Amino acid sequence: MLDVGVIQQRLSGGMVGRDIRLHKAVTSTNEVLKELVKEGVPEGTVVIADEQTAGHGRLRKRWFSPPGVNVYASVLFRPAIPLREVPGFSFIASLAVADTIALEGLRPAIKWPNDVLVDRKKVAGSLVECASSGKKVEYVILGVGVNVNVTPAALRAALGDAARAAGSLGQAAGREIDRNVFAANFLNLLDRWASVFAVQGPAPVLDAWRDRDILSGRRVQVRGEGESYDGRVLGVDREGYLVLRDPRGARRRVLTGEIRIAD
Ligand code: BTN
Repeated sequence: MLDVGVIQQRLSGGMVGRDIRLHKAVTSTNEVLKELVKEGVPEGTVVIADEQTAGHGRLRKRWFSPPGVNVYASVLFRPAIPLREVPGFSFIASLAVADTIALEGLRPAIKWPNDVLVDRKKVAGSLVECASSGKKVEYVILGVGVNVNVTPAALRAALGDAARAAGSLGQAAGREIDRNVFAANFLNLLDRWASVFAVQGPAPVLDAWRDRDILSGRRVQVRGEGESYDGRVLGVDREGYLVLRDPRGARRRVLTGEIRIAD
C-alpha cells in the first residue's frame, strides 16, 4: 500500500513534498491539484493516488491507471520563469523519473518529449500543464505516471496492440518494486532537479537530458496534427523543440506529435 508516513520519512526535506495528499482513487492527480491551487496550497504540494479513473496524457490520450500497482503523482510549482521556459519542467520530470529508475538498478532512456523507457518499452510519462496571465507563469503542474508493478497481462488487456510498446519496472527488474521507496526517491530527485533548473537555468538540465536521450541521430517519423513526415534527429534546442533534418535537407522544429523510430 502507498503510505504517506513511509514516503515522508524518506524525504530529504526539500520543497517538493512539504505537503503530500494521498488518495485511494481520483479522476486525475493533475485535476485534483488544479482544484487545490484555488485554495492557495504552497509550492511543492504533491497529490498522489493509488488509482486514477480518468488519468490522461499528452495528445488527449488516456493514461491506464489501475489500482494498487503503480505511481501517479502531481507536483505544484510556482516558478519565476518566462512562459517559453515551461517545457524545462517536462525535462526535469523525465530526468527525475529516469534517475529514480536507475536507483532500482535498471537502465532508463528518455524519448522526446516525455517518455521514459526501459528495454525500449515505455514505463513512464509526464504531463506538464501550466496557467499563465500574459507571459507570466502563475503555476506549473508536473504530473508523472510510472508503470511500477503492473503486469504485462494487465497492460495487454487494457491497451491491446499498443501494449507491445509498454512495460513496467517490475517486469524489467524481475521483482516487485516498493512503491513508497520509489515515490520518495522520485520526490527527492525532482526537488534536486527543480533547484538546478531554478538556480542555473535550462542549460544543465538540457545537458543531462541529452545524455539520456535515445532519439539523437536516429531517423524518425513524426505524426503531428494533420501531417506526417520523416527526418533525422539533430537534437533538442534550448526551448525544448525536437530539431530534425528532413529528407530535403531542411531543418524542422517539432513542438508536439508522436515520434516513431524508423531505423
Ligand atoms: C504521457 O505519456 O502522455 C503522459 C502521461 C502522464 C500521466 C500522469 S499520471 C499522473 C498525472 N495525472 C494525469 O492525469 N496524468 C499525469
